This record gives sequence, C-alpha cells and structure tokens, in this order.
Amino acid sequence: MVTQITWYGHAAISIETGGKRLLFDPYLTGNPAATVKPDALNPDYILISHGHGDHVGDAPDIAKRTNAMIISNDEICTWFETKHGHANVHSQHVGGGFNYDFGRVKLTPALHGSALPDGSNGGNPVGFLLYTQDGKKIYNAADTGLFGDMKLIGEEGIDLALLPIGDNYTMGPDDALRAVKLIEPKVVIPIHYNTFDLIAQNARAWAERVRTAAQDRTRVVILSPGESFSL
Ligand code: NI
Ligand code: MN
Repeated sequence: MVTQITWYGHAAISIETGGKRLLFDPYLTGNPAATVKPDALNPDYILISHGHGDHVGDAPDIAKRTNAMIISNDEICTWFETKHGHANVHSQHVGGGFNYDFGRVKLTPALHGSALPDGSNGGNPVGFLLYTQDGKKIYNAADTGLFGDMKLIGEEGIDLALLPIGDNYTMGPDDALRAVKLIEPKVVIPIHYNTFDLIAQNARAWAERVRTAAQDRTRVVILSPGESFSL
C-alpha cells in the first residue's frame, strides 16, 4: 500500500493513505508558493496544527464544501464548531492518539503560538505523528522550534519527517539539522521555507549538510510546490 505525500508550499501538505485523503494546514489562498486552488482539493480529513492564518488558511471553506472531518486540538475544533458551524470534528490533545479509518494519529508537542485569525484562543500548537495501516510512521513537526523530546519521537522509528527549515518563525537550517540527528528519520522533507523572503532558504545546501552529518541514515527529498513523494 503506497502512501503519497504532496507538498503545496509552506506547510500545506496532502497525504493519501489507507484509501483516504488527509490535508494538513491548507494555506493556499494568499500563499505565494501554492500551485493549487482550494477548490481542487477534496479531502476526507483536514488536520490543523495551530491557529495561525498561514495554517488554518482555507480550511473553513474546504471543510464547508467537502464536510471533511477536522482533526486538531480541542480549542481549534471548538472554533470550527461555534464560529463556522462545522460539526464534523475530532479533537485530541498532546500525547493522545486515536485510531481513524485510515490509520492512527497522535498529537506531538510543538514550541510555537496558536492564536486563531479572529484572535480566539487556539490552545497549544501541535505536530502530528501519523501511523499508516501498513506500519509506516510519518512525523509532521509543523511550526516549532527545536526541542530535545524530538529524540523520544525518533525512538518510535520514523520513516518520514516533515521539518520546517525557514527560520524566523520556526527552526532554521541549523536547528533543523540538529532535529534530524535527534529523530533519525529514514527520509526528511523540508517545509515552511521560501514562501516569503523572510523565510528564504537554500534547501539543496541544507540537504548537503544533512547528507554529510547523517551519512546514509537519512535521505533528504526536496519537493517543489505541487510535487509528490511516494512512501
Ligand atoms: Ni505559525
Ligand atoms: Mn507558520
């Protein structure tokens, strides 16, 4: 069973696994890097890592059109229920996992903020650990600084890590390299960079640093917005 990961620029990612379509942090309208329009996406699930506008993005509109289930922390799920009248939500919190019909999702800690676009309390920011039905483990760190407990996440045996490298708002290349050493994923895909000048990074130079430091343990896959990777 193939799990397919598509990056739309910034932190917008779709993962097709177990016959379902998962859409993470669908910031497409206003995203200068995005190559797809929100109307082109028909997810079964929308996963929101935190409340910032560049992550909630088009989720309210896509959720309304598709009735996709929102998976997020309780504060963000409640915001979709009360502010957008979207009842199809499943809330979790950091450390908690749940078995869905496509696989399992556990919320991981993230060091960041989470205020929602209208100023509502977005709870604590999270990352995602996705366990596919065929035993693969995908860690989407989302917006975060480096933290030592990434080593604990790595102990699970990560097949693919999605790590921010943009700097300024999240880990930059130096700390993302340290994160790779803690997590030791088989494959890493850099995200949350080159959307704006403020987070411009040279992913190829970073990939070379990972190759030198991690030797053959970790392979870097650099996607262009709209490109897919099969796991
Ligand atoms: Ni953010
Ligand atoms: Mn962000």
